[in-house]
Amino acid sequence: LASIEVDISKIAPGQAIKTSWRKQPVFIRNLTPKEISEANAVPLSELRDPQTLAERTKPGKENWLITLGVCTHLGCVPLGVGEGENRGPFGGYFCPCHGSAYDTAARIRQGPAPLNLMVPDYEFNSDTVVTIG
Ligand code: FES
Repeated sequence: LASIEVDISKIAPGQAIKTSWRKQPVFIRNLTPKEISEANAVPLSELRDPQTLAERTKPGKENWLITLGVCTHLGCVPLGVGEGENRGPFGGYFCPCHGSAYDTAARIRQGPAPLNLMVPDYEFNSDTVVTIG
């Protein structure tokens, strides 16, 4: 299936966009230094689906968090990008369907979802363009 190229040059730190790939929403978020510190401060032992931020991002580009916008409970689209800036109690994303809350690395922290938001295959073509898929 087709991959997509996304220009990320206009996404300032603290901002995010929603795009779509294979008919699924994809969130591309430029984390602030504070959001990165918050993610790195969480002990893995507190995580339901233990992964570091570094494992969920590319080397040297820890600020770019790219995930599917599909809650791992029953597939709703979590809030946190664009309209409905409710990022939930852990500052990442919040799924309004049954209250799953994700942190600034989009890791599940509260609610019924079993897994972190999925990171799709992607590569940086340059500092400002990524290919997803
Ligand atoms: Fe997200 Fe149920 S679908 S919490």
